[in-house]
Amino acid sequence: MSNKDVNAKSGLSSIWTDSLANNQQPGDKALLAHLRTVHQNNAGFTEKCASSCRDKAGRNSYEWLAEIVPDVDGIRVLDLACGSGPLLKILYDRNKKFKLKGADISPEELELAKARLPKGSVDLLELKAQNLTAIDDNSIDVVLCHWALTLMNPITPVLNEIRRVLSSGAKFAALVNGPMDAAPGYNDVYNLIYKYVQAKLPRYGEIDLGDPRIRSTESLKNLLIEAFPDANISIETSMVSMEGPVAEVAETTAGFFYATFILPPETRRILLSELSNLLVISKHSGDKERQGLFSMPINRLVVTK
Ligand SMILES: C[S@@+](CC[C@H](N)C(=O)[O-])C[C@H]1O[C@@H](n2cnc3c(N)ncnc32)[C@H](O)[C@@H]1O
Repeated sequence: MSNKDVNAKSGLSSIWTDSLANNQQPGDKALLAHLRTVHQNNAGFTEKCASSCRDKAGRNSYEWLAEIVPDVDGIRVLDLACGSGPLLKILYDRNKKFKLKGADISPEELELAKARLPKGSVDLLELKAQNLTAIDDNSIDVVLCHWALTLMNPITPVLNEIRRVLSSGAKFAALVNGPMDAAPGYNDVYNLIYKYVQAKLPRYGEIDLGDPRIRSTESLKNLLIEAFPDANISIETSMVSMEGPVAEVAETTAGFFYATFILPPETRRILLSELSNLLVISKHSGDKERQGLFSMPINRLVVTK
């Protein structure tokens, strides 16, 4: 049986989950190996949820982040941890004269990005955000990072690399999780998912993917001030939501949380049923198809060098 089959049968395991199970702090290599395995087995999963969730103005979080890029021909943009490339596609469709680069550690995600973008339109690089030596100093006008900064540890070398590649007056903008209480019901969804995950791995949550300082607005701001001492820094909080048949909403919501990949299929099925009951918004028995609603808090940070 291949590793992929074993993971599909009993829930994903890796040297990162083994460390947690053995009460040890996982190291950087374990984190990368875990992330690579998740993305190898589930390439494209982030965009399924992120592109369905919209803010009051009707924008998804890719579109909100893409607004940071000014509409100037020839502008040089790096999408750091570009995954399957949805953000690059939005930018390419907006202006064919943007000079676009995408970098990621997952070959499977980069394959998806390559398949959706016209040949030669974007320079796709298999690179670790902590080491962007393939990209010259002062050669980028905007670095974007959509929903990936939270996964990176160590984080300081990432911020240093971003500072190095940015030209003067350039921008770094990232989309990360917002404060839990900025979206109604988000805390309950988080607690429910981690109840199931912690039944299998009690320390998952206390120890999570990435540097915990990215998860709080205050500590994130302090990290940015340290890395970009002379820059202008802003962090805006917003909320995006998706509504639809509750079973689909529950499936897409669960699929967005990395932690759920460690659950075996039977546990995941029970979680989905409980999650549907939590997300349902039409409780009457006469409802033809029960509807569900999921909302999530997001932060958009913008650093102007
Ligand atoms: C949640 S996905 C987001 C993908 C894409 N930005 C999006 O929003 O659709 C996180 C991505 O970060 C990548 N990643 C995680 N750690 C990384 C690192 N240290 N360097 C580069 N890419 C990394 C993963 O391979 C994955 O594609």
